[in-house]
Amino acid sequence: MGQNSLRRLAKELKSFLLEQDEDEFITTAAPATTQEAAGVSRPLKQPQSMAEGSTLTVNFRRAETSEPSAASQPVQTVVSNQESTPMTTAQKLTALAKLADTIKNCSRCPLGATRLNAVPGEGNVDAELMFVGEGPGYDEDRQGRPFVGRAGQLLDKMIIAMGLTREQVFIANIAKCHPMTDPLHPDKHGNDRAPNAGEIACCRKFLEQQIAIICPKYIVALGGVSAKALISDAKSLGALRGQFYNLNLDNVKLPRPVKILATFHPAALLRNPNWKKDAWKDLQMVMAELGLKGLSK
Ligand code: URA
Repeated sequence: MGQNSLRRLAKELKSFLLEQDEDEFITTAAPATTQEAAGVSRPLKQPQSMAEGSTLTVNFRRAETSEPSAASQPVQTVVSNQESTPMTTAQKLTALAKLADTIKNCSRCPLGATRLNAVPGEGNVDAELMFVGEGPGYDEDRQGRPFVGRAGQLLDKMIIAMGLTREQVFIANIAKCHPMTDPLHPDKHGNDRAPNAGEIACCRKFLEQQIAIICPKYIVALGGVSAKALISDAKSLGALRGQFYNLNLDNVKLPRPVKILATFHPAALLRNPNWKKDAWKDLQMVMAELGLKGLSK
């Protein structure tokens, strides 16, 4: 892709982000203060790059609708030589910091009133691999960082087993604030629940913008909530696992194809360790695409 196309895409994305500030879904859009506010790391050396991608079609449907997603299809391989993301690292850092600030000030859904901290996500802005969970829990609400509790410790191990570090990937959630079964008692443990359709719909644009800015080559959807929201509401995690899908976003155009694979949520793996070997098979599919050999023993 030439310089002019890159400039045009960057301009389009910038104007999209500005438009979002006036969007009814987003209540506040204060300017970013620091990059740390975005929870972003500067790029580390990336894993060996995969061959340029396959394409296909996944329908990134709105959570509030309930029709089955006829357009969600497994990957059909089509060679694509499009170049990577149109934003520079510096532009990504700025855009993500601004977005994180917007998320932290959002009160579009009731979770905004009960959260201790919003959890926009964190990681390498140039990551080739992004993990998307369902929503912050007790520990994440307190720290404002994704996957820092028990499930997060297992996710860290999964990432390391793949031959990566947490700093090399980007980690985010579908919902950016803590969904609680009992919002009147945020101090209670065991008070986590999955985000509902309305909460997912409120947060969708945030996640879509993060994906478009980072533009990873691969996304791993952690658990059924994430897989259904990103691939197909109509299918179970069991039906969605085992194959790559191409991601289509509702609100933004991706600069190049992004593939998505669904696997078990680490919290589910803690409850059912028997599923770990299947989760590992899923992660190995991603490792093969990225040319990762895994942790050498
Ligand atoms: N579970 C999630 O889905 N996300 C987190 O950030 C933590 C636990």
